[in-house]
Amino acid sequence: MSDVLRVHGGRPLHGRIKVRGAKNFVPKAMVAALLGNGPSVLRNVPLIRDVDVVSNLLRLHGVKVDFDHEAGTLTMDPTNVESGQVSEIDALAGSSRIPILLCGPLLHRLGEAFIPDLGGCNIGGRPIDFHLNSLRAFGATIEKLSSGIRITAPNGLVGTQIELPYPSVGATEQTLLAAVNARGLTELRGAAVEPEIMDLVSVLQKMGAIISVDTDRTIRIEGVDELYGYRHTALSDRIEAASWASAALATKGDIFVAGAHQPDMTTFLNVYRKIGGAFDVFDDGIRFWHPGGDLKAIMMETNVHPGLMTDWQQPLVVALTQAHGLSIVHETVYENRFGFTEALRKMGTNIQLYRECLGSLQCRFAQKNYEHSAVIFGPTPLHGADIVIPDLRGGFSHLIAALAAEGTSTVSGVDTISRGYEHFKQKLRQLHADFEEID
Ligand code: EPZ
Repeated sequence: MSDVLRVHGGRPLHGRIKVRGAKNFVPKAMVAALLGNGPSVLRNVPLIRDVDVVSNLLRLHGVKVDFDHEAGTLTMDPTNVESGQVSEIDALAGSSRIPILLCGPLLHRLGEAFIPDLGGCNIGGRPIDFHLNSLRAFGATIEKLSSGIRITAPNGLVGTQIELPYPSVGATEQTLLAAVNARGLTELRGAAVEPEIMDLVSVLQKMGAIISVDTDRTIRIEGVDELYGYRHTALSDRIEAASWASAALATKGDIFVAGAHQPDMTTFLNVYRKIGGAFDVFDDGIRFWHPGGDLKAIMMETNVHPGLMTDWQQPLVVALTQAHGLSIVHETVYENRFGFTEALRKMGTNIQLYRECLGSLQCRFAQKNYEHSAVIFGPTPLHGADIVIPDLRGGFSHLIAALAAEGTSTVSGVDTISRGYEHFKQKLRQLHADFEEID
């Protein structure tokens, strides 16, 4: 598979594509399967690299995993869970952040877990202190080794009270996965409540867990002794759907995204409409298109759910380079998520980065040395360039820019996109994009 695309841009993308289960949910549901006393079945699973990585991690721990790619059905049997070889777990390090979420289930099943140094996109420091503090609160002992972290809990985990300093998605999932089998009650305050987390709560409830979610970001979990296998259909990938929607806007195109689910995309759809994009919601998906006329500059600020997702920011920025006037984007979730704009500048955009909080919120990054606000002066014609993909969402945004730009671009490192976008080259062809793979 070629890692470099030569893209001939300036043509509207049009046609129909389908998105399947969410990249930021499916691996977590796969980890939950470890907690069952029998097999679990997950449907609507996309063929993306993160699913491969987690399948291999589960296999390393003795789980039998079968994946019917065509049907998108994953069957996981954890009956014979065992400790993985440290060297083998380590070989998977660097490619995913999911290993940290195996801690709770492995502590319940085996009394110990080993976590290699974590990978994932380079979009900020991405520490794991909330995760480790949560595990400590349940009674686990953490030992730092040169190759990673060893966590033990020979006497089991005990329910506890945890308050997250920030509504972290991963730390909320960590706490849920540890609490469901812990002895007694756990109260988690300051939890993240993203739709992907609510879908994980649904999975755990199907397995026999007792979980209640309050409107004030408090989640209460009553630990139970035994959990069962589950059958579940993954919620749709709202980041992928928004990425294709942004591509429709930036290329003046018209894309029907089958599987896009309006209730999980309300905030995105509001922004899309304010910029001047059009959409129509159907039972089986959403049609997104550029209705002609000028796109409008806006002010937008990322935030935890129900705010505007940070993962929507990068594709939307490409569309905003084509809007009339001055747009302001304040990134409040990650301190370093504007690295991708460097390549956009090479393609002719006028984007300036600022350390100040250019929004209504003073965020955690105020008075710190992070360029986390952007001002975009538009519209600027985009022209082809040679670009190297920096991370998953930034990478897809580069691809959108190359498709919108006049002339030819060489986009290197597209393999990264396969981490989270199923069959993206095939989908580009379905949308009549003009590109070729080069060696
Ligand atoms: C998840 O990452 C997603 N990844 C990210 O998607 C997404 O951007 C993010 O949630 C926010 O929605 C997966 O689900 C695999 P966090 P996660 O913990 O869980 C800080 C994509 O492109 N923090 O909510 O790792 C952290 O540095 C990816 O699909 C700590 O300080 O994100 C960040 O500033 C990228 N200490 C903020 O919290 C911790 O221990 C939110 O991170 C944990 C997090």
